[in-house]
Amino acid sequence: MKNMTKTIMLEEEKIYKGNLILVNANHPLRSFQEEGFIPADIRFPKILVKSDAANILQLILKKISCYDEILPVSGYRSVTEQRKIYADSLRDNGEDFTRKYVALPNHSEHQTGLAIDLGIKKEVIDFIRPEFPYDGISQRFRKTALRYGFVERYQSTKEQITGIAHEPWHFRYVGYPHSEIMNTNNLSLEEYIDFLKDYKYGKKHFQAEIHGKQIEVFYVSADESKTTISVPEQTLCQVSGNNVDGFIITLWRNRNE
Ligand code: DAL
Ligand code: ZN
Repeated sequence: MKNMTKTIMLEEEKIYKGNLILVNANHPLRSFQEEGFIPADIRFPKILVKSDAANILQLILKKISCYDEILPVSGYRSVTEQRKIYADSLRDNGEDFTRKYVALPNHSEHQTGLAIDLGIKKEVIDFIRPEFPYDGISQRFRKTALRYGFVERYQSTKEQITGIAHEPWHFRYVGYPHSEIMNTNNLSLEEYIDFLKDYKYGKKHFQAEIHGKQIEVFYVSADESKTTISVPEQTLCQVSGNNVDGFIITLWRNRNE
């Protein structure tokens, strides 16, 4: 039987939405969402993240049984909150520190609802730089998180690329299998977005076999106002913008598709 295909329309506004959007000093947040956030941990009803990310986070915390050892410190922030954090830090910590550890308003991943700062439970937890070491339960979290779609976003070796100092506590939901691909190839999100440009729609796609599924990832440039692509009808297809200039498509094929 001939493989059927479906057509997916990639409207321009979708460039700025999805789990893989790159938000940094060069790429401000463009699509503002104020709903669809839930508590990362029900004991802290004010610390919110996007619902998918929250559900996955709870799964990870349950998996490593660390309910009382790891606490959420900061999740979704409105632009007003980010502005206040930036201004308060400038006043209290000075410019050098603030540029390193606090993103400018509208340039913070926290405004996407896809980022979470975590801290080890302590009497006093530093809001900007919570403790989250590379051993014990926090390291178990870090490793497990990769299998569920979260990455440590600001690594010490990537400061020049991310423009943010080393932040062992800041995790970003990018979704699975992207967390695993980024880790295997030692890529920051900036580098991953670039890396995928070598795998353009209609040319060679990035391929991996993960948990018995054939994964295919490719980039579609948004150089036209309406872009359409054709993908196999029965295949799970996920679309995210990159917040720069196009879309990242993830296909989950069964072996026989
Ligand atoms: N601490 C990170 C960089 C933020 O403010 O978004
Ligand atoms: Zn953070």
